[in-house]
Amino acid sequence: MRIFGTRLRYGVVACVLFGAALAGIANDEASRASLIRLLPGGDQAGSVDEQVSAITSVAESYGDKAVAYRLWKISQLSPEAAVREAALASLKALPAELLPEGVELAAETAGGGGAVGGAIDPAKMARGKEVYMRPAICFSCHQPNGMGLPGAFPPLAGSEWLDGDTDRLIKIVLKGLIGPIEVSGQSYNSAMAPLESLLKDEEIADVLTYVRNSWGNEGPEVLPDQVAAVRQAVKDQAGMFQVDALLKEHPLQP
Ligand code: HEC
Repeated sequence: MRIFGTRLRYGVVACVLFGAALAGIANDEASRASLIRLLPGGDQAGSVDEQVSAITSVAESYGDKAVAYRLWKISQLSPEAAVREAALASLKALPAELLPEGVELAAETAGGGGAVGGAIDPAKMARGKEVYMRPAICFSCHQPNGMGLPGAFPPLAGSEWLDGDTDRLIKIVLKGLIGPIEVSGQSYNSAMAPLESLLKDEEIADVLTYVRNSWGNEGPEVLPDQVAAVRQAVKDQAGMFQVDALLKEHPLQP
């Protein structure tokens, strides 16, 4: 009897602990899910104040990599400046090793406000992401995280090709690119097909602005007029750009 009693007691304790653990997991999931809802495309439930307090409490209670990643996305993409700022502030309070790969937070922005990536309109970033994620437009090759695939597709995250000359980038997207290329110290030799007939000027401006300001990249916004001018200038060119020819016209920054 005594043994049974002891077992029973252990059983009850185990059940209670197990139940508590399950409840904990459920809470955890619900809280994380509440962050996803704050992203563009989520229902963004609640007032700005409610969104800010959800961000703060989830970040404080469940600061891990998944939460850090969502905070980073919110800090870039939420349409509400106050929500972006709250996400950024919470992100800065987390240990640096939780930050998504490639992301570095500028140390200075105290009081500066706004998302990392400067004054770029979050709506434009969201449109650019939508273009990026269309099948066969960018992500299928360069990957959703911009890291490319070793040996096959070069990365856009951290690529020196995104620095400086905007016309070079626009030309790549309009006409494609072929031949041996080096990106971030790695060699590739493949081809990217032209996208000029699939994307409008504004879509190219949006997607290049998104790429230049995602995954830790920071760069100037691209405007539809810039795309229109380059499209006009290269309209008679048949075929893709050769890497060496393009570099002669548009050298990489030293
Ligand atoms: C079919 C696969 C594919 C698609 C789709 C694609 N690319 Fe590429 N991209 C490549 C390949 C392959 C290269 C390297 C070409 C070479 O070897 O010369 C490249 C090179 C680049 C480069 C220069 C190198 C670098 O990594 O920075 C940029 C910038 C770029 N692509 C941006 C884009 C953008 C923006 C889109 C969408 C609008 C896109 N690409 C769509 C395959 C693709």
